[in-house]
Amino acid sequence: MAVSPTLLVLFWIFKLTSATPAWFQNISTSLFNLPGDIKLGGLFPLNRLTSNLSQRTEPDQIICDRIDTYGLGMAIAMKYTVDEINANQILLPGIQLGYEIYDTCRQSAVIVRPTISYLTAKSNNLLSVECNYTNYETSISAVIGPYGSEMVSVIAKLLGFFLMPQISYGATSEKFSDKVLYPSFFRTVPSDKWQVEAMVLLLEEFNWNWVAVVGSDEAYGQRGVQDFSKLAANKSICVAYQGLIPVYTDPEPMVKTILSNINSTKASVVIVFSLSNQAEIFFKEVIRMKLKGVWISSTSWGIHNQVTSLPNIQSVGTILAFTDVTQNVDLLDAYTHALLTKLSEERADSPPPAQISGNPSNPCPNCWKLSPANISLVTAPVVQRSAFSVYAAIYSVAQALHNLLQCNSTACKKPVKIYPWKLLEALKNISLNLSGTQIEFDASGNPNVGYNLVEWVWTESGLDFKDIGSFNEKLEINKSLFTWHTENSEVPQSTCSAACGEGQVHRVKGFHSCCFDCIDCLPGTYQISSSYCLWDIQCTPCPPRQWSLARSSRCTDPIYDYLSWDTPEALLLTLAIVLVVLFMGSVVVVFVNHRETVLVTASGGTLSIVVLLGLMGACLSLLLFLGQPGDTVCRLQLPLISAFQTVPLSIIMSISLQIFFVSEFPNLAASYLHVLRGPGTWLLLLTCCAVQAGICGWFVQDGPSLSEYLADRRVDFVRSFLACPVLPFSGFALMQGFIAAMALMSFMCTFMATKPLHQYNLARDITFSSLIYCVIWVTFIPIYIGLGEKLRSIVYVSFILASDLGLVAVYYIPKCYFLLKTPELNTADHFCTFLEGLQPTPAQEEPQTQTESEQ
Ligand SMILES: *[C@@H]1O[C@H](CO)[C@@H](O)[C@H](O)[C@H]1NC(C)=O
Ligand SMILES: *[C@@H]1O[C@H](CO)[C@@H](O)[C@H](O)[C@H]1NC(C)=O
Ligand SMILES: *[C@@H]1O[C@H](CO)[C@@H](O)[C@H](O)[C@H]1NC(C)=O
Ligand SMILES: *[C@@H]1O[C@H](CO)[C@@H](O)[C@H](O)[C@H]1NC(C)=O
Ligand SMILES: *[C@@H]1O[C@H](CO)[C@@H](O)[C@H](O)[C@H]1NC(C)=O
Ligand SMILES: *[C@@H]1O[C@H](CO)[C@@H](O)[C@H](O)[C@H]1NC(C)=O
Ligand SMILES: *[C@@H]1O[C@H](CO)[C@@H](O)[C@H](O)[C@H]1NC(C)=O
Ligand SMILES: *[C@@H]1O[C@H](CO)[C@@H](O)[C@H](O)[C@H]1NC(C)=O
Ligand SMILES: *[C@@H]1O[C@H](CO)[C@@H](O)[C@H](O)[C@H]1NC(C)=O
Ligand SMILES: *[C@@H]1O[C@H](CO)[C@@H](O)[C@H](O)[C@H]1NC(C)=O
Repeated sequence: MAVSPTLLVLFWIFKLTSATPAWFQNISTSLFNLPGDIKLGGLFPLNRLTSNLSQRTEPDQIICDRIDTYGLGMAIAMKYTVDEINANQILLPGIQLGYEIYDTCRQSAVIVRPTISYLTAKSNNLLSVECNYTNYETSISAVIGPYGSEMVSVIAKLLGFFLMPQISYGATSEKFSDKVLYPSFFRTVPSDKWQVEAMVLLLEEFNWNWVAVVGSDEAYGQRGVQDFSKLAANKSICVAYQGLIPVYTDPEPMVKTILSNINSTKASVVIVFSLSNQAEIFFKEVIRMKLKGVWISSTSWGIHNQVTSLPNIQSVGTILAFTDVTQNVDLLDAYTHALLTKLSEERADSPPPAQISGNPSNPCPNCWKLSPANISLVTAPVVQRSAFSVYAAIYSVAQALHNLLQCNSTACKKPVKIYPWKLLEALKNISLNLSGTQIEFDASGNPNVGYNLVEWVWTESGLDFKDIGSFNEKLEINKSLFTWHTENSEVPQSTCSAACGEGQVHRVKGFHSCCFDCIDCLPGTYQISSSYCLWDIQCTPCPPRQWSLARSSRCTDPIYDYLSWDTPEALLLTLAIVLVVLFMGSVVVVFVNHRETVLVTASGGTLSIVVLLGLMGACLSLLLFLGQPGDTVCRLQLPLISAFQTVPLSIIMSISLQIFFVSEFPNLAASYLHVLRGPGTWLLLLTCCAVQAGICGWFVQDGPSLSEYLADRRVDFVRSFLACPVLPFSGFALMQGFIAAMALMSFMCTFMATKPLHQYNLARDITFSSLIYCVIWVTFIPIYIGLGEKLRSIVYVSFILASDLGLVAVYYIPKCYFLLKTPELNTADHFCTFLEGLQPTPAQEEPQTQTESEQ
């Protein structure tokens, strides 16, 4: 840490004067050994390896003589805890706890010796081979440590044979949860199983699914990388690259390879499951290569001063670290200060001891030089945060002893011997309240402890760890507390492919499931909106009677549009219908006013008004096409219009037949015309109406109702125009065809008829009006067939309107003009041919070439 030691010392002296328990005066200065009634073993990485393992040819050719301040700090925490238990005399009244602390050097070649010494018989300090170790009391009752998983795997099976309780304060590998293989193993730190889960949850929280994972190549790192990869695969997180940093050989070339591979995958989130030594080497290289990213640390190095003290470490980007949920051991600092003070006082009084490096019983020959200036041994954040693990481990053993020895607050029943397997039984069952934290072990020897998530932040005074979340079965983070060391302080992305949008499915390309193309769902299929971890690779077809647009995430019931009254089209059509009807109405008025005149009589008399009324009826029936269609409306629409049109056209046809008769059979005309005009017309009218009624009846009978039609219709649209079904289409064609046939008939009967001289030409009116009518219908057919439903309705209405208007206009306008403008010509003479079948008298005005027969 950047704070100067002198300042720290001043600070601690100031702080400690306030409250120091009296028992601090009596503490022993022996750091690694304390005699007692019951002894605990302690295994700490007090030193680092300084010799070359590959040159080792004899068992003792291994040298560890560079102090590991972390291990030493943790050992001091153990000494403090034992002293505190002895001083308070509440847990184990009348019993003195002792300890033997040895160095592990993080080497299997070193840790075996102390372990064997722990297993010697208490009575004679010899390890003898026996048939039955049930009644075998070992010289120490429980082992605290070692720190790392690698070391635990060396000795845990051996200790397991003796069922000697072993409580590690740092080994997190999940494999020790197996109680068949490691029956006597406990720990006060959570298993990596939870850590891996917490990491995966953190990745999911930020949608990072393209990550690299790096571990140290020993039990801890291997297992962490393996567990992480397994869980990540289950959660659809892709491990873009995984690498292991060598522990026993020169790691640097491998670290370079790992980093250039990580750089080439473009994964910006890297999980580092490494021991602090390897993490230090790794980040040295990261800094050198100027890589930047998000580094997620396992508990092993996340706050370790080996990494925090690297120069330029702030250049690597964001470091998020998981740490065990622990508490401060309040008095540890004060105790250490008292201890160091006492050490330096003793040093002044006595000569320096013989310094024998490598003596197992004095793993720290230089420790007699310690002074209050070395307080950072325990004030380093990593020691502050993990001392509680040692503290809890020792208190757990003390509590187990308390239970085993059936102590009350004043005394314990002293048994003759404490067998390790008995202590193990008691330890399995403890539950103790340690300054507010309840400590228990589950059946696998794991504690009820979670994680904190901290972020490294660099302040003016140096590095600080900011709490940004916690994990205890579920991850709780506050995203607003994160500071991202990226260019614009945004959350970094780490994905292989951008996320697919709604209504898209994934098509994985290549080996990793996180690298994919997004495919839009086709119309009629949809993408089931899914959680993050279950990707759709196929679109689901819509259920029957539902449909979807392309790229949908759901299907909908079809929506029907219709020509509702308030649409502009409907308003326009209504206006047109009203105008046409008004126009026809005014023609009716003119005709009614002149009903007695010859012209009106000649053009059918009352029937000519019926023609108009029929056409008006047809026009008004068109209103049925507007508004929401229903079963009844649909039944009525076409038959009503056809019926209304049949009446006028059959009347016109009847008149044209009369004209035909008059012009083709001039001799018979006079005698039979009145028959044709009277009963003949009525007969024809009735016959035509009956035929049309028959067709209409068949059409209505045979065609489906609107609701039946809709129920049968295949839904392959989301939105559609709803018009009455024109089914059977042949019925519709017959109805229209019949009307058109009458118009055609009228045309054919009249177009050849010659104009009677000086007479009104009724034939011409009919010819032109029926011609117009036919032309309009001939144009109608191809247009109608080529159109969609909505336009079909509009076109049909417009054509009916146009044809009716054309008919009326051409047939009646000349007559109205004649009635209104030349009433003087409205005499019987002018109409005698068509009225009476009489030939006009040649004497009248000019000589006539063509005449009709006379009556
Ligand atoms: C310290 O030790 C002395 C003698 O060994 C004893 O008399 C005294 O009570 C002890 N003080 C405390 C606080 O335990
Ligand atoms: C250890 O010794 C081996 C062979 O004797 C040598 O190759 C290696 O470089 C040495 N390692 C160190 C770290 O000195
Ligand atoms: C070992 O010794 C104990 C106690 O003396 C005894 O109960 C047990 O049966 C012995 N076990 C074996 C396998 O002999
Ligand atoms: C993977 O997930 C499934 C369900 O989500 C679960 O049943 C299974 O145990 C998981 N496998 C692993 C190795 O976690
Ligand atoms: C990392 O990759 C980028 C291109 O992806 C390259 O430009 C850069 O030089 C690489 N950095 C190192 C240290 O290899
Ligand atoms: C203790 O402090 C002294 C002086 O600051 C230093 O030289 C020494 O290395 C420290 N010892 C340890 C074990 O940290
Ligand atoms: C504690 O136990 C001892 C015997 O083991 C007994 O004499 C003593 O009265 C007990 N004290 C209390 C407070 O129960
Ligand atoms: C465990 O503790 C419970 C009460 O807390 C007790 O009933 C049980 O006998 C204990 N088991 C052992 C093996 O000590
Ligand atoms: C643990 O002890 C503290 C006081 O040291 C007390 O406030 C707390 O309620 C206790 N917790 C439990 C679960 O007993
Ligand atoms: C997250 O942190 C911000 C800033 O400290 C705070 O305002 C907010 O209330 C926190 N949100 C939650 C859910 O804790």
